[in-house]
Amino acid sequence: MKLQIVDCYQTLSRQAAAIVAGLIRRKRQAVLGLATGGTPMGLYQELIRLHREEQLDFVDVTTFNLDEYVGLTPDDPNSYRSFMQQHLFSQINIRAERTYIPCGDASDLSLVCRRYEELIRQAGGIDLQILGIGANGHIGFNEPGADPGEGTRVVRLAAHTRQANARFFARPTEVPHQAVTMGIRTIMQNSRKILLLASGEAKAEALYRMVCGKVENGLPASYLQLHPNVTVLADRAAAKLLADVGQPLGC
Ligand code: PGA
Repeated sequence: MKLQIVDCYQTLSRQAAAIVAGLIRRKRQAVLGLATGGTPMGLYQELIRLHREEQLDFVDVTTFNLDEYVGLTPDDPNSYRSFMQQHLFSQINIRAERTYIPCGDASDLSLVCRRYEELIRQAGGIDLQILGIGANGHIGFNEPGADPGEGTRVVRLAAHTRQANARFFARPTEVPHQAVTMGIRTIMQNSRKILLLASGEAKAEALYRMVCGKVENGLPASYLQLHPNVTVLADRAAAKLLADVGQPLGC
């Protein structure tokens, strides 16, 4: 695991965007794994800026999102499809048909899950998977206790996760109880490179355990220790429990 500590969220977002842009410039047909939530929003803003000001071209790029809530239609304002439309896809020149997100309101969700695995394989795997980390150590919606051998599937959200995500909803009770998520196996087997972003003190303990703790399903992100090509990009606050942090990059 390569650990890179930066001073602040803005630098983290710029650094992450530079890594994504570097890949797309080397490989026009890059396949990206994308995440939702607060953490990658700065990355997406910076990618939009690079598209507008520096001609970063997404026309041949394919994306696979990690997860989607069960029971929300794609055009529900709280769906992850809507999130991605709003925060990235509608503002760059990506082709809609190359942006994959599991459909959370399909009648046959197990078919959706099988098909998602197939689509990722057909795309030739994922060149760069962006991940956030939950304060409980989840990646995607693989909550503590998740079986690392599982692929894309329907999961029940931890109470902690529903609480953390309530800020995006009008009322906390509206947060769905279930989601479709890529599994830990999906992420580990298909991603050639993983970039995990962590910002803020609330992530410090999970980040510390992910980097320094034992590999265990109590902290799903710890399985990333077993992946050969992971870069962790964290700001000072998220990395505060990691002793050997080197010199942070300035803002
Ligand atoms: P956040 O979520 O970026 O909104 O903190 C991260 C995650 O739950 O993976």
